[in-house]
Amino acid sequence: MFQHLEPYAGDPILSLNDAFQKDPRPDKINLSIGIYFDDAGRIPVLGCVHEAESRMLAASGAKPYLPIDGSPAMRKAVQGLLFGADHEALRSGRVATLQTVGSSGGLKVGADFIKRWFPGTQVWVSDPTWDNHRAMFEGAGVQVNTYPYYDPATGGLRFEAMLETLRSLPARSVVLLHACCHNPTGVDLTRAQWEQLVPVLRERELLPYLDLAYQGYGDGIDEDAFAVRLLATSGLSFFIANSFSKSMSVYGERAGALSVVCGSAAEAALVAGQMQATVRRNYSSPAIHAAGIVSQVLGDPGLRASWAADVAAMRDRILTMRRDLHGVLSARVPGRDFNYFLSQRGMFSYTGLSAAQVDRLRDEFGVYLVRSGRMCVAGLNTGNVERTAAAMAAVIS
Ligand code: LMR
Repeated sequence: MFQHLEPYAGDPILSLNDAFQKDPRPDKINLSIGIYFDDAGRIPVLGCVHEAESRMLAASGAKPYLPIDGSPAMRKAVQGLLFGADHEALRSGRVATLQTVGSSGGLKVGADFIKRWFPGTQVWVSDPTWDNHRAMFEGAGVQVNTYPYYDPATGGLRFEAMLETLRSLPARSVVLLHACCHNPTGVDLTRAQWEQLVPVLRERELLPYLDLAYQGYGDGIDEDAFAVRLLATSGLSFFIANSFSKSMSVYGERAGALSVVCGSAAEAALVAGQMQATVRRNYSSPAIHAAGIVSQVLGDPGLRASWAADVAAMRDRILTMRRDLHGVLSARVPGRDFNYFLSQRGMFSYTGLSAAQVDRLRDEFGVYLVRSGRMCVAGLNTGNVERTAAAMAAVIS
C-alpha cells in the first residue's frame, strides 16, 4: 500500500538536533536548533512559568475543550503584549486574535486562510528565511518567492534592493517579515528602515505577514514589538504570528497566537470567523495548558515582572556570548572581520561558513551548526565558547 512513498529527507534543523542527541561525544556543542540554553547548557524552567503551573495544579481545574480560537484570557493578554494595552487598533476592536498551536500553527492557519480568501496571491519571503516558512506556504498551495535581504559581503541588510523588489510586486502580494531577531541571519531592519518600508507596503497595497518568534531577545519585550505597533498605527492590514516558545522557554507546550489587524471591527469579525473555520479543519482547537501558562504569566503583575527580568537576563547572556566569541575569534584569526557577531541580534548569527566548513565543524570538532552557516548563539556558554572559537578558527584557516 505504501511502497510508492518517497522517503522523507528530514527537516534541516530538527534532523540535525536529533543527530546531535545521538552523537556519543561528551564534549559536543549544540548550536543548531533555535533553543535558549543557560550557561550550564540546560533549557531553563522560568520561575514565573513554574509558579503559574503550580497554581494551575493547585486549582485542579477541569480540562474542557477550549473554544476554536482559544482561551479568551490568553487572547486578550497576547493583544496587550503585541500592541500595548491601550492601542487604538484594540480599542476599535479591529484585531482578530486566535490562540494557536505554537506560532507555527498560526503561520499554517494564516497560510490556509490566504489560499482560500486570496486565491492566486503569492508570498514573498526574505532571502534567506526560516526553512519552514517556504514549506508551510507551499504546503498550503501558495507560491513562494524571495525578496533580497541578507548581504553576504557586509553581513548586513540589502535594504534598497529589498525595497526595489517590494515596489514591483502586484497588489495584495503577501510579504513575510521577521518583526525582530531575523531567523537565520540575526540581521534586522532599523526603526528608520521600518518607517521607510511602511509607505511602500501601503502604496503597493501589499499584505504584510509578521513573524515574531523571538520577542524580548532583540532589544526588549516592548522594543521588539516596534514593527507590530508601527504597522498597526499606520493603518495597514496585516497578519502577525507570535510565539512564547523561546520567550517563556516553553517549547513543547506549543504556545502561540495569530492576530490579524483589519480595517474595521466588522472586518475583524469576518476574519475571526473564517480563521475559526480554518482551525476547525486543521486541529479543532488549541492546548489548554499553554493558555494557562501564558495568561497567568502575562496577567499577574508579579509573574509578569519576574518574566521580564528573566527575558532580560537571557538576552544579556546571549550578548555576552556574542562579545566573547567575537573576542576569541578576532584574536585567533587576525585580519578577518567578525563584527557581525556584535551587530546581529537575537539567537542567531549567519557565520558565512560554507556547508563544507560546517560539516568539518560537526565531524572533526562535534560543533553543530545548520548547514546554511546559521549559528544559534544561545547555545554558547562560558564552558564551550573558547572551544567553539578554536574549532571555527581551524575550519576557516
Ligand atoms: C529554529 O529555527 O531552529 C527553531 O525555530 C526551531 C524550529 O522549529 O525550526
